[in-house]
Amino acid sequence: MKKVITYGTYDLLHRGHIMLLKRAREMGDYLVVGLSSDAFNAGKNKKAFYSYEERKLVLEAVRYVDEVIPEHRWEQKENDIREHGIEVFVMGDDWHGKFDHVKHLCQVVYLPRTEGVSTTQIKAQLRVTENSNVECGE
Ligand code: CTP
Repeated sequence: MKKVITYGTYDLLHRGHIMLLKRAREMGDYLVVGLSSDAFNAGKNKKAFYSYEERKLVLEAVRYVDEVIPEHRWEQKENDIREHGIEVFVMGDDWHGKFDHVKHLCQVVYLPRTEGVSTTQIKAQLRVTENSNVECGE
């Protein structure tokens, strides 16, 4: 069985996430997602809207995802690759070149991001909508 791994926060799941997961899964037979823990995000000054447990629940319901494991620190990747018998490491190309140091363990692939959507953008749009509703007195 060819195992693939990818990492991310996957907050407010959107079509860009789904397309990444679909393409990653198609590179093998089993997809492991390393999901950023809340503490790991806090260390990056990032706060997800949904908690780790909520994001995990949602990801596990996606047909392309076979297993979700927590990501606690940057350095765990080599260990994850060995422990889970990973053959392909996949990330969106916003990370291009950033994980080349695991190339001695498995294939590393950077996939083009889906245009026009991100969690950051969704959060910003929701803020604008909320503010305009307040201004309209809704
Ligand atoms: N991704 C993608 N296309 C998008 C958005 C994300 O392919 N439009 C990929 C990323 O490259 C990454 C994975 O989905 O491999 C998880 O990304 P994540 O950082 O959780 O999502 P973003 O929407 O990029 O979140 P943020 O705006 O908070 O950075």
